[in-house]
Amino acid sequence: MIDRNRRLAYVTAMAVLPIIVLPDPLLRKTSAPIERVDEKLQRLIDDMFETMYDAPGVGLAAVQVGVPRRLIVLDVGGEKEDERRPLVMLNPEIVRLGPELRMHEEGCLSIPDVRIEIERPSTATVRFTDRDGNVQEIDAEGLLATAVQHEIDHLNGKLIIDKLSRLKRDMVVRRFKKQAKGEPAD
Ligand code: NI
Repeated sequence: MIDRNRRLAYVTAMAVLPIIVLPDPLLRKTSAPIERVDEKLQRLIDDMFETMYDAPGVGLAAVQVGVPRRLIVLDVGGEKEDERRPLVMLNPEIVRLGPELRMHEEGCLSIPDVRIEIERPSTATVRFTDRDGNVQEIDAEGLLATAVQHEIDHLNGKLIIDKLSRLKRDMVVRRFKKQAKGEPAD
């Protein structure tokens, strides 16, 4: 028996997308602006949330799922479903950074098992278009300020390993190149 409702639910179900990892050259590409919000984009946004929650992570840029467009999703709320605070930003831009700095040990879903202590401004004013096409501006602080700067870096081809010394960065890249070739990491 075919249950039509169930079938529709299946067709529209969200999907966990594969996340690209170092040394995929797409991670170094500058993402292109989003020009219109259509059904395909709405679907991508839903799938990116599903992918981020599944990972789990607090932020994900479209380029990390192989789509080099200026779109990020974030959620710095709690881990339980009723504590979620999903945020979608299309074409996000940092308008202002605060004077104070905040140190945070950052990880990146595209650089598994690497954590790097990074100091960034602790407050950031961000302007973006939401998924309904409205321009919004928010003052981010704490973890959200850190996460939004991290994700906007992705849109510009920048990664957390860029904050390391050249020697340490080369070591991380070499390890991921070996892994990609199926060789054991040293
Ligand atoms: Ni990242």
